[in-house]
Amino acid sequence: MSSEPAAPPAHPEEVARLAGEADAEIAAVSDRRGWEAVRIRWIGRREGRVRELLDLIPRVADKRGFGQAVNRLKERVEAALAAADERLAAAERAAQRREAAVDVTLPGRRVPGGAIHPVIQISREIEEIFVRLGYTVAEGPEVESDRYNFELLNFPPDHPARDTQDTFFLEDGRLLRTHTSPVQIRTMLARRPPLRVIIPGRVYRHDNDLRHSPMFHQVEGLAVAEGIRFSDLKGTLEAFLHRLFSPETGVRLRPSFFPFTEPSCEVDITCPFCRGKGCATCSETGWMEILGAGMVDPRVLAGCGVDPDRYTGFAFGLGLDRVAMIRFGIPNIRLLFENDERLLRQAGIR
Ligand code: DAH
Repeated sequence: MSSEPAAPPAHPEEVARLAGEADAEIAAVSDRRGWEAVRIRWIGRREGRVRELLDLIPRVADKRGFGQAVNRLKERVEAALAAADERLAAAERAAQRREAAVDVTLPGRRVPGGAIHPVIQISREIEEIFVRLGYTVAEGPEVESDRYNFELLNFPPDHPARDTQDTFFLEDGRLLRTHTSPVQIRTMLARRPPLRVIIPGRVYRHDNDLRHSPMFHQVEGLAVAEGIRFSDLKGTLEAFLHRLFSPETGVRLRPSFFPFTEPSCEVDITCPFCRGKGCATCSETGWMEILGAGMVDPRVLAGCGVDPDRYTGFAFGLGLDRVAMIRFGIPNIRLLFENDERLLRQAGIR
């Protein structure tokens, strides 16, 4: 044994005393860096104090007791470091929670409120009116066959009435439906009478000016049962138009022609802007055309497998965009589809 001032420990009791020193250092650790430094100083593989002590074993008298003491010291340091690690982790979690915490006293962020598009508002309103009358809502595809869009609606091939529809054709012979009437066909092919359906949807025509958009919206109505008469059509339309506009609205039927109805009519209402007195919007007539209607042509019924000797029906169709323009005072149909937020906000949620 030499007489150097810092003589290395030679007895197990001296080793055990080092534990206090380690405990104190580990207890003082306050972050990950400090923890790592203490770990290396004590149990680092190459130069840690435990390593130094192990290297002393060949030179001490009580090799076995000394070795056991070093092992106990090592285990104790390891346990203390593990506890310190847990303490640091808990502190980190708490800090994270503090950072993520919501300050409920802060003012909320304003989310601008959306509004239902005027056309959709009108569509829902019309659906609701007819659902109360016992109708169900139906829909059909916007890409349609010639057969459903024309043929089964009694537009024969080469019939001049097809020209009025300004059809967009697809390369495969299908087309973009020009009206919601093909859903009449789909409904009759799928369901037996009695049936009453209301059919909103988008339709397409090769037409584009201040009053026409190549895409617009229609609602179709269809009722088929035994004993349905023209007076049922008239009563239904009057009730509907009084609900949609006002009970004072005048309703007038004019004879017209559609291939799929016979007889057919066009329906006018008294101009909602001047109440029938005559103004620029109604071209001084006091009336506005609002829909087409008629009794379902027997050929259409028969084409769908509905016996025309037993069943009769009525149908009607109207443009939703026009109704939305009248109701919201929108002068130009394009305004409806430009998605200008100012217009949408003006229409508001109803
Ligand atoms: N489909 C017609 C059109 O787009 C509108 C129409 C007229 C529908 C008379 C009908 C009807 O159901 O009976 O011009």
